[in-house]
Amino acid sequence: MKAEEWKESISGRVREILLKAGEIILGAHVERRDIRAKGGKADFVTAYDVRVQEYLIGQLASLIPDAAFFGEEDTKGSGRILGNGPVFIIDPIDGTTNFMFDRRHSCISVALCCDRRVCFAWVYQPYTGELWTAEEGAGAFLNGERLHPADLTLEEGVAAFGAARHYGYDPDPLFRLVRNLFEHSLGVREGGSAAIDLCRVAAGGNICYLEPMISPWDYAASSLILHEAGCLITQWSGERITLDRSCSILAAPPQAYGELRRLIDRDKADHVHLGKDARPGKGNAAAPSEADLIEVTGEEDWQDETERTYRDGSLIQECWKDRSY
Ligand code: IPD
Ligand code: CA
Repeated sequence: MKAEEWKESISGRVREILLKAGEIILGAHVERRDIRAKGGKADFVTAYDVRVQEYLIGQLASLIPDAAFFGEEDTKGSGRILGNGPVFIIDPIDGTTNFMFDRRHSCISVALCCDRRVCFAWVYQPYTGELWTAEEGAGAFLNGERLHPADLTLEEGVAAFGAARHYGYDPDPLFRLVRNLFEHSLGVREGGSAAIDLCRVAAGGNICYLEPMISPWDYAASSLILHEAGCLITQWSGERITLDRSCSILAAPPQAYGELRRLIDRDKADHVHLGKDARPGKGNAAAPSEADLIEVTGEEDWQDETERTYRDGSLIQECWKDRSY
């Protein structure tokens, strides 16, 4: 089907599908037997995640029959994301742990990619009826009201973050940053649904959102909503977010985004070259010559630290050396 044929009507039709999918969530009674561990620490899927995803795929496929699907509960279609055809990236329930405990703070996130970019986005919070939407080049909206968040500084807003144990990363860099945010903002929050918290940045309720590792279905839709609202979303390093694999994310309106990048860079510098007595936070001592290197320990994996010992007794810890931060 040609893009011109579905682009006109897609927004309203997906909205109707989301309202119906939201009814499955609102009518749910989660029991123990409905919950399955996915393998990683504190990572679960419920029978309702699967049911909502199946419902969405069935309905969305009838709107765009040649679309591919990339969903949290079935990643078979992931290769297609790199193609130019239409691809739906779906999180049937973002905030599954909240959902399991009836915390009423979860959402459905649907992004539609065209030419490898998100071109339409919907994030629906069924408990409150909030529906955030965006179309590339046409703005971002909350229940039809255009989003224009104020360009505030960190000191002027509430900072949100996410942390997920199943990635197994070293939590220290994240919590050092959260500590910094605690001192530089009006307060810090961990809501348990990245998609909602990212939309709240676009709507002005959060001054920022950050997470050291997160999957594309959690942020694909919100990334367009943020962009269309005039906010920035990148990896912690400033690189573009990826849609075909997990990455770190950092989202905020421009002023706060700049402040956050500076906090990250400063923390990173403090934890790279620790100097002779190697106490964390000690500062960025000059690196000795590589010719004097005696030993390297640790692994050069993204979540590990490498220690380099030099002839003059210097110990250099390299953490975050990596590809994701
Ligand atoms: C999780 C939530 C959480 C974020 C995690 C996600 P799920 O998604 O968005 O807020 O911190 O990284 O995995 O598992 O509830 O769909
Ligand atoms: Ca999710």
